[in-house]
Amino acid sequence: MPDDYTPATVADVRRLRDTLDQQGKKLVFTNGCFDLLHAGHVRYLEQARALGDAMVVALNSDQSVRALKGPERPLNPETDRAEVMSALRAVDIVTIFDDERATSLIEAIRPHVYAKGGDYTVESLNREERTALEKAGTQIRILPLVPGRSTTRTINKMQAPAGGEAPATDSGLLRIAVLGSGAGSNLRAIIAAIADKKLKAEIAVTLTDQAESGFRQIAREAGVPALFVDGGENPRKLSEAAQKEIFEHLERARVDVVVLAGFMRILKEPVISAYAGRIVNVHPSLLPKFKGANAPQLAIDEGELESGCTVHLVTAEIDGGRILAQARVPVNIGDTATTLHARIKVEEHKLLPQVLNEWRERGLPVRGAGPS
Ligand code: GRF
Repeated sequence: MPDDYTPATVADVRRLRDTLDQQGKKLVFTNGCFDLLHAGHVRYLEQARALGDAMVVALNSDQSVRALKGPERPLNPETDRAEVMSALRAVDIVTIFDDERATSLIEAIRPHVYAKGGDYTVESLNREERTALEKAGTQIRILPLVPGRSTTRTINKMQAPAGGEAPATDSGLLRIAVLGSGAGSNLRAIIAAIADKKLKAEIAVTLTDQAESGFRQIAREAGVPALFVDGGENPRKLSEAAQKEIFEHLERARVDVVVLAGFMRILKEPVISAYAGRIVNVHPSLLPKFKGANAPQLAIDEGELESGCTVHLVTAEIDGGRILAQARVPVNIGDTATTLHARIKVEEHKLLPQVLNEWRERGLPVRGAGPS
């Protein structure tokens, strides 16, 4: 029996591509984690392979799976994943790559066809990957996902006791996900409140759409999963693929409550419905006054004598869900948006952890249970 399977090098794949090219044939390229193969993967790969004459699958290395999906993944090490993948009828060659994105691999291989599964549109592909594909003259094909099959779903099912969903932990702690895009001071306050035992919760995952943000840095320093989701071109919206990716992350982390702490993009389906009553936001105004962006500046412009912050549930209506708590601060003469916002944040840092700590007492829902 041979030892561990040896995946192909990028040079091997490039050679295959050039040989096919000389014969007027096409190499199809696809990439992904492929951690636990299911029928959805197999069908997708069959369809992708049919777009050309041979197919390379670029597998995310273990390190890049961890960066994309959190510390509990992958389930199977990269050489095992490569070995299983290479045994499929649709797959001709398998290589492993380390980056979160496949850009440099696309540049090196110059495949004829690039296949991507699922909810993407050509427009919602990562910009650098798309530029690399366009430069290489690669044809981009988006293939439908097979509904009802996903690795996360399989894992959750395996962990569930007969007839029900497994509790996320036995600890009784509220399992939260924190989403942010900015400085991350509210995340820091949550981390501190947990450390000080003022907040009986655990951070299951943090998600950001800003790879280099203070928010992500704070999460990393605290040793909690700090995942990046590429939200797409529009800084206020999330692409459909990103909406789904966030949902998958939340499911994977078995989250009770989703905390938006300065997350600048609008969450929609499937998260909004699946987590109804379990998504909370902190906003720097006394809602319903001054919804949306620039709330501190709007309070000053309107000549308000006081402002503050609001912790509220999130619905499809922006800053419109049920108000859970508010704290007031004075607006001082000579305040700028920055000075007022800083004063408001001091209150946010107390109010948000406090509301989270009271979550169950307030009769708010957690995973697998409606409101009591
Ligand atoms: C906070 O003021 C919050 O009210 C608003 O965004 C800001 C985030 O600040 N939604 P930070 O990133 O937590 O420091």
